[in-house]
Amino acid sequence: MYQAIFKLHSYWAYLVLLILIIAVVNALIKVFGDKEYEAKDFRISLFTLIVSHIQLLIGIVLYFVSPKFDLWSQLGSEVMKNPLARLYLVEHPLVNIIAVALITIGYSKHKKKLTSKAKLKPIAIFYSIALVLLLSRIPWSIWLA
Ligand code: HEM
Repeated sequence: MYQAIFKLHSYWAYLVLLILIIAVVNALIKVFGDKEYEAKDFRISLFTLIVSHIQLLIGIVLYFVSPKFDLWSQLGSEVMKNPLARLYLVEHPLVNIIAVALITIGYSKHKKKLTSKAKLKPIAIFYSIALVLLLSRIPWSIWLA
């Protein structure tokens, strides 16, 4: 059970990063190039929302089934003094939950606007911040090893 969820979370992360980068680049090009908002833009931002929410759910399940969760009982408050334990048990989950919340806010703000620029701006801003947050807390050396 743990192995399957871990693999799913690990591979789903490629999809999350890929679609989020596409959404950010697409929104930035359109905002700065004064381009029209199209059905394709809606599909990209919605797909990013769905894919990131799925990763959030997988991550929450993984958190409790991962052997790393036992570090809470083994280390207690020492978790905060151990960089790797702190990354997996505190920083990665917390920062990624904030990132997905920002994607959700950006998506719902963009839906309420009526003009092209007003719709694309929240996607460009909120999705970009979310991308930076996600990239900042991925255990790169272990993930890509
Ligand atoms: C939503 C964006 C997220 C992305 C892109 C993401 C990505 C990743 C990646 C790439 C890894 C490393 C996998 C590997 O070593 O092969 C990982 C590990 C992990 N993630 Fe996430 N994650 C996200 C959200 C979350 C959330 C919200 C939680 C918990 C609430 C979470 C919990 C974990 C845990 C516990 C591990 C370590 C599992 C283990 O080594 O046993 N993740 N994540």
